[in-house]
Amino acid sequence: MERKENWIKKGFVDEPIANIDNLEDAFLKLKKEKNAVLMAHFYQEARIQNIADFVGDSLALAQFAAKTDAEIIIVAGVHFMGESAKILAPHKTVLVPDLNAGCSLADSCPPDEFSKFIARYPDHKVITYVNTSAEIKALSDIVVTSTNAKAIVDSFAPDEKLIFGPDRNLGNYINSITGREMVLWDGACHVHEKFSLEKMLELKAENPDAEILAHPECKKQLLMVADYIGSTSALLKYSALSSSNTFIVATESGIIHQMKLKSPQKIFIPAPPNDSTCACNDCEFMRLNTLQKIYNALKYEWPSIQVKEDTRLKAVKPIERMLELSAKLGL
Ligand code: 13P
Ligand code: SF4
Repeated sequence: MERKENWIKKGFVDEPIANIDNLEDAFLKLKKEKNAVLMAHFYQEARIQNIADFVGDSLALAQFAAKTDAEIIIVAGVHFMGESAKILAPHKTVLVPDLNAGCSLADSCPPDEFSKFIARYPDHKVITYVNTSAEIKALSDIVVTSTNAKAIVDSFAPDEKLIFGPDRNLGNYINSITGREMVLWDGACHVHEKFSLEKMLELKAENPDAEILAHPECKKQLLMVADYIGSTSALLKYSALSSSNTFIVATESGIIHQMKLKSPQKIFIPAPPNDSTCACNDCEFMRLNTLQKIYNALKYEWPSIQVKEDTRLKAVKPIERMLELSAKLGL
């Protein structure tokens, strides 16, 4: 294995260092040699999804990381997804091809402030969305994803007092469908908050038969006009089963690749952001991953995710609770 310093000298971030015509084949060969697996979130570019061993939502990626017997896990996603994999598989090498792949939602919840926030509600259980740092997970009673959030909230006794963080939109949505009054942390995802209701309604007027599919990280006004609300995997499933032919998709546009694979005859329109000059319904953190960086990460086994052991030991409990409960609930 080459030293990471050599890699940095070669300019791993911007410049291709592997003069390989077919990067896909080279990567697949190296992956086999090193007993590695590539897991990719639905928000990755199509080329990355196509060579992944596993493509899924946040819950499915955590489930996959917990089970794989590969020695190296490459996470084509964002930092918190790599951390979750490392927390669940501490003896494996977990690579995140670009450590700058953060998450605005996870960043909207700094551990010191969250710690003070939950201290104000000592009789509340703490539920956190998986889009958080390991330190936040370590402060939580249970972790949820958008796939299992409702079912896990429902599993608490009706009189149990709950805190939910960090996503205020998902929290509000879960409160509205469960009748709970969870105390919410005021965080959000910049990608999902940028969808424009006005432009969405114009688009719907132009495509009256289209169904609006929305991720619960979107703002309430947008969720109110959605025909179906769900996690990335739920939206994918719905689009395949629905008898409609056209869908306006209010989540990161990477998911449309899988939607088209499942339903090639259907039309998928990415929901419009409020600024038509930007591609801001693409998550720039997710899109930092490139095939070149993925290849380099595996070749040099760097950058790898590290989680302090005392934090990991605390963070693994709420994640394992989530996985156990999800398995029981058939999710
Ligand atoms: P899912 O768990 O629905 O894939 O969501 C992940 C995410 O980051 C949404 O922005
Ligand atoms: Fe985070 Fe939003 Fe990107 Fe998802 S889409 S990874 S919540 S910044």
